Amino acid sequence: MATRKNGISPLMVALHVGAFVPLLWTVWDFWQGNMALAINPFQEVTFRTGKAALILLLLSLAVTPVNSVFGWRQVIPMRKWLGLYAFMYGLLHFAIFIVDNGLVGGGISAVALYEATFKKRFALVGFAALMILLPLAVTSNKWAMRQLKKNWKRLHRLVYLAGVLVIVHFIWLVKSDVREPLIYGAVLTVLLALRVPAVRKSIRNLRSRRKNPRTIAVDGA
Ligand code: HEM
Repeated sequence: MATRKNGISPLMVALHVGAFVPLLWTVWDFWQGNMALAINPFQEVTFRTGKAALILLLLSLAVTPVNSVFGWRQVIPMRKWLGLYAFMYGLLHFAIFIVDNGLVGGGISAVALYEATFKKRFALVGFAALMILLPLAVTSNKWAMRQLKKNWKRLHRLVYLAGVLVIVHFIWLVKSDVREPLIYGAVLTVLLALRVPAVRKSIRNLRSRRKNPRTIAVDGA
């Protein structure tokens, strides 16, 4: 994969363009009077933004394993942006939920917001996930990294908790057919497993053996 020392790599261009596809697609569908958007626009946009946030979050969690398993260091700068775009869609998703629940007329009332968000368990865990993503988004810059030192890494590990909460959010809202959220849950489980030190160590060993086959002969002797 091509990387550029100066300027933006083609991979990053693909990321920035790709991240806006769900948004532009929705705008296009609105413009074209697409059926799903015409019947229940708020629900459809809620689904689309929620799905985009979840997929981008999982992609951001996949960056570290992709680097450690395949040694593709060029994906590392993508992690921050994937996380930020996940947060952007999460915010948009919540904003649409607020509008859909009629919470904006005459200013958002704290009581109405509380009623809509905290009374339903699926909305509550979704909100908790968004509240975890908020400080992560705010501190995803070099200045915050320098200020927080070791705590930056500790704070950013919370992204896995946010991932788990989003899967729970999805499972609780679908009611009957939980296959789709369970597929996303399985992906998250694999990504979490790849963070376990013992798993990482065996992958590293496997990679170094593939790079240097003589090690196999020595080990096998
Ligand atoms: C801020 C609090 C949140 C609220 C109040 C909320 C609310 C909702 C609602 C009302 C739905 C549609 C339910 C339905 O009509 O059946 C939904 C779906 C969904 N939400 Fe959230 N959500 C929140 C946060 C999040 C976050 C942070 C994410 C991801 C990072 C997320 C991901 C999803 C997904 C994946 C779906 C299902 C989409 C589909 O079925 O295609 N939500 N959410």
